[in-house]
Amino acid sequence: MSGVPSPLQELTDDRPAVAGVRLLLKRDDLIHPTVPGNKWRKLLPNLAEARAAGHDTVLTFGGAYSNHLRATAAAGRAAGLRTVGVVRGDELRGRPLNASLAQAAAWGMELDFMDRATWRARMSAEVVAGLLHRHGPALVVPEGGSNAAGVRGCVALGRELAESGADVVCCSVGTGGTLAGLASGLAPGQRAVGFAALKHAPLEAETEALQLAAFGRRTPNWRIDHGSHFGGYGRTTPELVAFAADFEERHGIRLDLGYEAKALHGILAGLGTGAFRRGSTVALVLAG
Ligand SMILES: Cc1ncc(COP(=O)(O)O)c(C=O)c1O
Repeated sequence: MSGVPSPLQELTDDRPAVAGVRLLLKRDDLIHPTVPGNKWRKLLPNLAEARAAGHDTVLTFGGAYSNHLRATAAAGRAAGLRTVGVVRGDELRGRPLNASLAQAAAWGMELDFMDRATWRARMSAEVVAGLLHRHGPALVVPEGGSNAAGVRGCVALGRELAESGADVVCCSVGTGGTLAGLASGLAPGQRAVGFAALKHAPLEAETEALQLAAFGRRTPNWRIDHGSHFGGYGRTTPELVAFAADFEERHGIRLDLGYEAKALHGILAGLGTGAFRRGSTVALVLAG
């Protein structure tokens, strides 16, 4: 466990070297063993907000393999707050829990399951009122911890990278919260590139809406690359699995297959097409 600021590590690898690019890894994955990376940065301000509002419960949302649900369970337990996790898909109700949900439950999270039609309107006033009626008063935190407080928590990530010498800072994009905060913390002249982990998702609009909610303005220094999603959320391919295994063998770092493996693959593919200038420094955030 390293806490914040997280370490910055230069990667010695022939692929960026051949392209004349320095590649740095921002090791946010080392911040905390059970609340790593963007989870730490987004959840801590939300837990503080729950306390300030007098809540003893945090209710949040996620898929059946959600990193965010697990991290919320761990953070809530450490902070002495009750946690409720609303899981996408009511077909999971009454079935044995997968390892990810079982871990969340073992850390004390109460699980609820929501059918996919209701899920689409999960943050509507009506659906939220129903959840609070069933589970009691709570601070309601959206999927991924990506609300204004969570995004503001990610500004420090950008600030930590402002002095890194990186011309371009890359991250993976699920909800857009990390990119929204990170981009706002960078120094003038630095750019952020988010690699979409989801297919056909309106991630530009979502990231922009998060910046507007958190800061009242969109910063012009970021864009999203949609060429490296490998089939979309939770999807992977044998090529991606082999890529991550090879990376682990070379560098001893296990990449999250759903997110950072896709982003790093996108960066290395971009080296071949000249997307990153020879002589430039590129940093990738490992967020969990
Ligand atoms: C390991 C990891 N990396 C990246 C992301 C994407 O972050 P965001 O949802 O803020 O776009 C997530 C999402 O939850 C994640 O778990």
